[in-house]
Amino acid sequence: MKVKSYFPIFDNQPDLVYLDSAATTQKPQSVIEAIVNYYSKNCSNVHRGMYYLAEQATADYEASRTKVKVFLNAKKDKEIIFTSGTTAALNLVGYAFLAPRLNSGQEIVVSLAEHHSNFVIWQQLAIKNNCRLRVCRLDENYRLDLEHLSQLLTERTALIAINHVSNITGTINPIKAIATLAKRYSIPVVVDGAQAVAHLPVDVADLGVDFYCFSGHKVYGPTGTGILYANEKYLNQMEPWLLGGDMISKVGLDSSAWNEPPYRFEAGTPNVAGVIGLGAAMDFMTSLNWQSIAKREEDLLGQLTSGLASRNLEIFIPESHRSALVSFAVENIHPHDIVSLLAEKNVAARAGFHCAEPFHRAQAKNHGTVRFSLGIYNDQVDVKAGLDALDYALETMRAYA
Ligand SMILES: Cc1ncc(COP(=O)(O)O)c(C=O)c1O
Repeated sequence: MKVKSYFPIFDNQPDLVYLDSAATTQKPQSVIEAIVNYYSKNCSNVHRGMYYLAEQATADYEASRTKVKVFLNAKKDKEIIFTSGTTAALNLVGYAFLAPRLNSGQEIVVSLAEHHSNFVIWQQLAIKNNCRLRVCRLDENYRLDLEHLSQLLTERTALIAINHVSNITGTINPIKAIATLAKRYSIPVVVDGAQAVAHLPVDVADLGVDFYCFSGHKVYGPTGTGILYANEKYLNQMEPWLLGGDMISKVGLDSSAWNEPPYRFEAGTPNVAGVIGLGAAMDFMTSLNWQSIAKREEDLLGQLTSGLASRNLEIFIPESHRSALVSFAVENIHPHDIVSLLAEKNVAARAGFHCAEPFHRAQAKNHGTVRFSLGIYNDQVDVKAGLDALDYALETMRAYA
């Protein structure tokens, strides 16, 4: 069975050439059905209902937690906190974990290739607490300069916040090695896994990291869902961030007491349908053969990259240790013009700073880039269509130059 046939969008949009999976992935039928099933058969709020529907919805919601735990190889269900996405998960680490323990003069280490979600929160916490944001350089091959990172780490470092896979260069960062470096000063490590989870197996125990975040919608699940994995050792040290229902154990007129983790960090009615859909996405992912996905995506990326290189474009991608996306710039042509012309050929791609302005300012001469990104449904026909459409865009723009 062709992978595309699991995804109804390709039946409904037969001409679509979807090369924008880093922005969001398409959804398999099983995920769509899980959501429809919840709304049409089991719709109820979770946790405090005594009737059948509520019990079923709660069981399905909690089953998703266990599925994510297994997917990430976390130890306990309570280490899995549902959020609305990677952005919310990183902010949760910022406000629930870091802010209460951050002292003036400390430092937070990030890289130049972070998405704004894993940059602005740390920059702002640093500003508010009289701390310093330290930004690790990339080498000439768009990989993290590990020597620089090592120099940045000191007893003043309060946190390392780093992406697993960059959403601009596709570089796969050596997270295990970074976690080992961090242990020298017992520095907690938070990983932005938004671009990793759909492309590599992630094992938080093996990586040795304290926090790992991802978005459901980038791993064939619903929008509005996300995960914060938080190592058990930190759960009780974290302050609740959002206050309200479900996160309390007792409320008096003068004080309140908090529920146990993970509920302490899931205030209010959660995205029940989304979380159940995320569980179906986890089932979908665990049914796949990672080695063959990785090989297939690597082959397609090779085809794409050599196609771009032969067109003399500036490509921002490392030679190795890279995942399923490639960004490029075309001299004297605005990236928005390129993607508008690609759209005329039904090719969906993305242009701009990709929420990574510091990288573009430093490495791409202040310009935006065009990004092609792959998902498991893409094939050689898509890549060829993307490159043909690019030729059309370049010819059209050059005719006006
Ligand atoms: C590397 C990276 N981090 C964080 C995010 C933010 O994810 P979300 O918008 O789902 O919260 C993205 C989204 O593109 C991303 O690519």
